[in-house]
Amino acid sequence: MTPSGPTVSTHDVVDEAGRRRTFAVISHPDAGKSTLTEALALHAQVLTSAGAVHGKGNRRGVTSDWLEMERARGISITSATLQFGYGDTVINLLDTPGHADFSEDTYRVLAAVDSAVMLLDAAKGLEPQTLKLFDVCRYRGIPVITFINKWDRPGREALDLCDELTERINLQPMPLTWPVGVAGHFRGVLDARTGEMVRYDRTAGGATVAPEHRMDADRAKNEEGTDWIAAKEEHELLAASGGEFDHDRFIDASATPVLFGSAMLNFGVRHLLDLLVELAPRPTPRADVNGDTRELDSPFSAFVFKVQTGMDRAHRDQVAFARVCSGKFERGMTVTNATTGRPFATKYVQQVFGQERSTVDEAFPGDVIGLVNATALRVGDTLYDGKPAVKFPGLPSFAPAHFAIARPKDLSRAKQFRKGVDQLESEGVVQILRSDRRGDATPVFAAVGPMQFEVATHRLEAEFGTAVALDRMPYSIVRRLTDPAQRNLIDSSRRGEVLQRGDGALLALFTDQTALGVMRRLHPELAVEPLIAST
Ligand code: G4P
Repeated sequence: MTPSGPTVSTHDVVDEAGRRRTFAVISHPDAGKSTLTEALALHAQVLTSAGAVHGKGNRRGVTSDWLEMERARGISITSATLQFGYGDTVINLLDTPGHADFSEDTYRVLAAVDSAVMLLDAAKGLEPQTLKLFDVCRYRGIPVITFINKWDRPGREALDLCDELTERINLQPMPLTWPVGVAGHFRGVLDARTGEMVRYDRTAGGATVAPEHRMDADRAKNEEGTDWIAAKEEHELLAASGGEFDHDRFIDASATPVLFGSAMLNFGVRHLLDLLVELAPRPTPRADVNGDTRELDSPFSAFVFKVQTGMDRAHRDQVAFARVCSGKFERGMTVTNATTGRPFATKYVQQVFGQERSTVDEAFPGDVIGLVNATALRVGDTLYDGKPAVKFPGLPSFAPAHFAIARPKDLSRAKQFRKGVDQLESEGVVQILRSDRRGDATPVFAAVGPMQFEVATHRLEAEFGTAVALDRMPYSIVRRLTDPAQRNLIDSSRRGEVLQRGDGALLALFTDQTALGVMRRLHPELAVEPLIAST
């Protein structure tokens, strides 16, 4: 069948997609994600001195800085995406909310990217939130570039940080740069591919793009002495033990290119951008529910990976963020929602940042569009134009870490409560777990981050008129029980409990590792496995 849709040159769409790099930064709070984001944008196109603001103290000023930058330099920003040009490349940096906002949404963002930058604090290495996000990248096979940040201040040894990647997450580090000077005495880096030294010069506060000086190995040895020799030796040591760069291993996500730098001083940030342009995967055709791929030059298609409510308190407002998978998006198109079969008019398509919005007129594969007033759209929905119709697989559910029993405060509202819970379940606001033992009237809400509970209770009250009482449960460890016959083993032990999720998965919940460990010792035959994500 010949695809039909608006007349767009095939060549344009494939070309435009090829210019896109769509990625997210995965990190633990305080590793420097905001600082790195600002530093990346500072390198965009005509930027020379944007007066970027670093540090939390001044962060209140960042919003207006962004908007100023957007106006002055054509950088467009949404609360979900930062888009900017770098040379001929269009960079889409998707936000992964952390801190208190950490939730299933954070994971879902990773369904919409083609690669990830793992940002580590040089003094801390791998931290819990980074590990959780990395697990999702691994599960989805997302290639990861590692940026070791804050090298300008005392931290761990470079070799030690690289060993941690191999030992804890079985990810082979392939350093493309190696620091000259220990953490805290950062002179520059050895560029592993050219053998040169790149020396960084400090600028006041790092507010401008840091000047770099390249020099050959002889000069570097003369000027940096033992620091240069140590850097070369350490790098060679790692390269000899499997750390040689291998592009295939980056793409198959079994190894990660590593860069050292300082986001605050803008050291190594340009190198990171260059690597994204050179190495990171560009958008590729996406497989639909039948396993057929939707070619990039097919008519428009996209999937919704995030729905945000209440962004504008003046209106009951809902913005659905969708990643474009194929074709050219043009504002005003009427597309079809594959879930409902209903048409959806895209008159109000915007990029959103805080309260400020700007209209999007066109977008290509790899881009993110914000569909305003999209009350009919749900996470996981596919939108498409033309023929053939397409439906992409729904987004996976992720391993929850917080659990609470939910009950309506007013029992006469039990019917509305049940309806509301079903609705939240279908939207993926929280996961709903049930068991015969607990009965249908008191489902268990399960969430990746506790903020999901707040959203759920707020919506049950506001939209279904049911105030909800939540009793937090003491569980923190979850495993998938693969043998349903063993359910009783856990339920009768009082060390844990088994509940069933809407997708049929049996989740075994334990208070802590010790409880799980004891169960395993008592019942070596226990068939439980880690649960990261499931579709
Ligand atoms: P996040 O978004 O990942 O939470 O981190 P954020 O960028 O807010 O950075 C956390 C802290 O780390 C900030 O310090 C920031 O200035 C600092 N930081 C980020 N990158 C670097 C770096 O390359 N080198 C050094 N030395 N520090 C860095 P803060 O104490 O919260 O604010 P401030 O008052 O120090 O600016």
